[in-house]
Amino acid sequence: MIRVAFVCLGNICRSPMAELYFKHIVKERGRSDEFFIDSFGTSDEEEGNNIYLPALRELERHGITGSHRAKKLTERDVERLDYILVADTQNLARVHNISCGKAVGKAYRICDFTDKPRDVVDPWYTRNFERAYDDIADGCVCFFKYLEKKAD
Ligand code: 4NP
Repeated sequence: MIRVAFVCLGNICRSPMAELYFKHIVKERGRSDEFFIDSFGTSDEEEGNNIYLPALRELERHGITGSHRAKKLTERDVERLDYILVADTQNLARVHNISCGKAVGKAYRICDFTDKPRDVVDPWYTRNFERAYDDIADGCVCFFKYLEKKAD
């Protein structure tokens, strides 16, 4: 079982979008049984809240549905995970702080597996949910390919 979690700041936009997107492509490829997939925030600001509606709508536009309740990442979560894919550099630093160094070697940015390593810019501020979706999709597909290559 490969345990993957996506992380952003609030856990209501980027990381739940990535969680549902990654669940979708893993299911499409018939590999759901091999994965545990979840998402977290580095802040507790949105704790218990559903996915932000514009983020959910963007997923639905691409035929992806699902739900998630926001929760904050803990040191204990980090210990249990194999891969922690974080939306941006700022939250990557927050993951290392929360986990007291235990995320070293398993935390990356979502788009670090692409040929253009970059942040997924926060659509909460840019209002550009399509751009966030495209970056997340690129990052998740490249991460999946990385895992396939690694298993060869
Ligand atoms: P996310 O977006 O980190 O992609 O979930 C945000 C959502 C809420 C807030 C910040 C970012 N907020 O400050 O409430």
